Amino acid sequence: MPSAQLFDIARLRGEPKIVVVGSYGSIIQSMLDFDHLAGRRSPSVVAIIGTGRKSERYFFGRTEIMIPVVPSPAALPPGALRQVNFFLNLSSGRRVLDSTRQLLAALPNLVGGVVFAEGVPERQALQLQRLTARKGVWMVGAASVGLVVPGSIKLGAIGGTQPRQLEEARLLEAGSVAVISSSGGMVNELIRLVAGSGRRLSWALALGGERFPLTAPREAFLAAQADPPTKAIAYFGELGGRDEYELAELLQQGAVTKPVVCYIAGTVAELFTTPPQFGHAKAMAAREDESARAKRAALAAAGAQVAETFNDIAVLLQRLPDGPGPAPPPGDNRAHLLESRRPALFASSISRDAGGAVQLLGQDLLGLAEQRSFAWIVASLLLGKPVRSAELERFVEFVLRLLVDHGPYVSGAVNTMVTARAGRDLVSSLAAGLLTIGPRFGGAINAAAAAWLEGVVAAKSPAHFVEEQAARRLYIAGIGHRKYRVDAPDPRVERLLRFADGLPQQRFTGFAIAVEQITAQKKGNLILNVDGAIAAVLLDLLSERESYSDEQLRSLVEQEFFNALFVLSRAVGLTAHYLDQRRLDEGLFRLPEDQVTRADVDLSEQ
Ligand code: ACO
Ligand code: LMR
Repeated sequence: MPSAQLFDIARLRGEPKIVVVGSYGSIIQSMLDFDHLAGRRSPSVVAIIGTGRKSERYFFGRTEIMIPVVPSPAALPPGALRQVNFFLNLSSGRRVLDSTRQLLAALPNLVGGVVFAEGVPERQALQLQRLTARKGVWMVGAASVGLVVPGSIKLGAIGGTQPRQLEEARLLEAGSVAVISSSGGMVNELIRLVAGSGRRLSWALALGGERFPLTAPREAFLAAQADPPTKAIAYFGELGGRDEYELAELLQQGAVTKPVVCYIAGTVAELFTTPPQFGHAKAMAAREDESARAKRAALAAAGAQVAETFNDIAVLLQRLPDGPGPAPPPGDNRAHLLESRRPALFASSISRDAGGAVQLLGQDLLGLAEQRSFAWIVASLLLGKPVRSAELERFVEFVLRLLVDHGPYVSGAVNTMVTARAGRDLVSSLAAGLLTIGPRFGGAINAAAAAWLEGVVAAKSPAHFVEEQAARRLYIAGIGHRKYRVDAPDPRVERLLRFADGLPQQRFTGFAIAVEQITAQKKGNLILNVDGAIAAVLLDLLSERESYSDEQLRSLVEQEFFNALFVLSRAVGLTAHYLDQRRLDEGLFRLPEDQVTRADVDLSEQ
């Protein structure tokens, strides 16, 4: 299907939800300013495909918002995947084909998109054209600064990147002139001429100056003809190629009947003895009929109004039949309200002080303290959003109680007690104990979650997983204990696992138990420990009761979310050990010398 039928302007006048590949702050901010000035209640950009940070900060009006950054379209949350209907591909020319393919494969409701980069290899541009036709998604570019439909969508840098530029170009008031240009720079000049002539845009489109444009001028003309709000077309073309002869044919055949005002640049080439190559790939008149003058003549013969100089366009626009009509009231000049915005020094999504009343997750602190359990508040704050399921709340409540302490022999408790007996204060003694938490003691829950997630998502057999870790000479986080063994199991683990009993899938708990069955056969102390059990049950509860995707679970692992519960709970026990030592006041601790064996004995000396 030729993309002309695909390139349907009417579908650009809905509610755009855009994903941007790559990050150009000024372009994205200009799209959000357009949204705000057009009166939209929410930003059109819903996500950025990129690497590095998890989100980027922009302004929506004068309010700062966070736009999520995900490594690939497939990593978008399911809701966003279905919601996205347009894309702006800002990736480099050599990455355009691959990144666009990923978009088309992942986004089921795509209508169209813009490719910004120049230098897309011509063979890949042809592949993109075929992809367009096959997928029923139109694309504009490459080398396009985008498209704009006043009051509806701004997809790219088109029309400018500063709020005042958007207002001066009158991009916020729907009109009747369609601007079509092969040149990005000149599309903005043409837009300003239309605004200066007292008219308004129905839409504007920069086709890009590549030899094989993803949307050809003829397709854009047909789309203008089929678009009821469009009453006239203003076109900027260049020397090189034969597109304008196709446009002349559309006019002669009556396929396009709306008035066309146009300017074809490039007569300067006549001053050269050999045909010069201008900036755009196709801007070179290899033959006489590709010259600017020949194209102008063909368009004039077909009935277009051809400007001899670029500025003559303004005069021709004034003569268009339906006249500029009454100048709409000047924009209420809200653009100046968007100037002098300064990003805040911090961003916080979990709490704020709303006029003196502290809110957690948007809810009044005092109300939460009175109505919610401590476990619900802890889990919701740690996750950064309200917990939905009673099962998760109950599990967190149990874990917070269970982990408070495990006796005075545990390394963390010992460090707190020693520090307290050295006369240090509460915070220092607590910190000494907390600093003991790590990969071997209490801080393995996160690594265990990563291990169970890796094993399940990669569909590894437990046996293969265990062998793989052994081959890499890595301890399996969540497995092993100094005190407990197969014949003397940790009573806490059995209670923790019960919280998975009611879950339909138990993907992660099942995997952890299967791993333990292998490791415990190797050595009796290689049992599933509390860290491993908490990690497994928490993954299952988040997946099955809080609808976390595997990608979202992976993000929690990256944040080290899974270690938080042990730290929080054990802080209670360590504090209690500090206070207990202060009460007992036994003075400075010194290890008896027979409790340290000489490790530097050189048997050869004896
Ligand atoms: N995965 C694979 N092999 C292991 C593991 C493990 N997690 N733990 C011990 N082993 C093996 C060792 O390779 C060693 O084998 P080898 O004799 O062939 O060399 C043998 O078991 C003994 O190793 P040690 O380090 O002496 O065992 P220890 O009993 O000291 O280990 C510990 C206990 C520290 C918990 C260990 O199992 C471990 O680091 N586990 C992973 C981290 C973890 O889950 N920690 C949380 C513990 S529970 C809590 O802190 C609340
Ligand atoms: C704990 O909860 O502290 C323990 O599992 C670690 C230990 O050594 O007992």
